[in-house]
Amino acid sequence: MSFGFDSTAEQVTAGIDISGKTWLVTGSNSGLGLESARILAGRGAHIIAAARTEAKAADALAELGIDGTPVACELSELSSVKAAVATIQATGRTLDGILANAGIMALPTLQQKNGIELQLYTNHVGHFALVTGLLGQLAEDGRIVVLSSGAHFYARESGLELDNVSGERDYHPWRMYGRSKLANIMFAAALARRFEGSARTANSLHPGVIMTNLARHVDNAEAMFSTMTLKTIPQGAATQCYVATHPDNSAVSGKYFADCALKKPAAVAFDADQAEALWRWTESVISA
Ligand SMILES: NC(=O)c1ccc[n+]([C@@H]2O[C@H](COP(=O)([O-])OP(=O)(O)OC[C@H]3O[C@@H](n4cnc5c(N)ncnc54)[C@H](OP(=O)(O)O)[C@@H]3O)[C@@H](O)[C@H]2O)c1
Repeated sequence: MSFGFDSTAEQVTAGIDISGKTWLVTGSNSGLGLESARILAGRGAHIIAAARTEAKAADALAELGIDGTPVACELSELSSVKAAVATIQATGRTLDGILANAGIMALPTLQQKNGIELQLYTNHVGHFALVTGLLGQLAEDGRIVVLSSGAHFYARESGLELDNVSGERDYHPWRMYGRSKLANIMFAAALARRFEGSARTANSLHPGVIMTNLARHVDNAEAMFSTMTLKTIPQGAATQCYVATHPDNSAVSGKYFADCALKKPAAVAFDADQAEALWRWTESVISA
């Protein structure tokens, strides 16, 4: 059976039993993360629901009526990410996968954390710290699934701009969002290289364009989105649930997906030298 633009997360996981498996989902309280948590739990997984606060994560689990583990993880605070890693380690659970889903988009003016542009920090640095902090707990065939976006194309010419991590040079909301989403693809690809020779996988994806809270910083969101072919939230969560659970993807790693299929990202996204430079830079940030 092949899936595509219209497929829902429910459809792409039909018949898949992940009972006994544990999935960590970031951004579990809203939009695609909430729907993904619902679907993965519905297929049997124990959900470790991460959100900015434990209360938000607990509310999400209560809303879904599932008996998961709520964890506070504010991705723009390394102390919170490190505490989340410790909390998750203390559960003693092996992680069968991590859905690095949380994100912010198109901040209208430059915001920074520790001198680093906030979208790069939240979307990439926070997830890098969380995922690498938990690799010791990842199952031998564990899957890392990283939400990127077609918006990475906004940064296809400027690239990562590692000489402009502050975002102070010529700040542009979409280019900087695109840069953070480019970093998401590069992180997954770099992780996949580190997984070579094992059954672990790491992939990234574009979920489609879906009206969620993500657009809250965009003034003209309705007008902008009205020019695009939108997905519903169940359709938007499909690609990540497909990459996360489908047996067809058990040996697929280092790839980029959209509409539940492999897709070519911008050429720069698979530039291994830039990805390794990103990895070294991010390690230096999180160990500072
Ligand atoms: N929707 C689209 O059209 C679209 C297109 C391409 C890619 N994506 C990607 O899909 C992913 C999910 O987005 P969505 O559409 O579901 O958006 P959403 O409804 O706004 O959900 C984003 C989630 O990320 C969380 N989050 C934001 N900043 C955080 C932080 N500093 N620490 C921890 N959690 C944080 C949010 O928490 P709060 O609710 O507390 O803010 C929320 O749970 C994002 O990575 C986004 O870039 C979405």
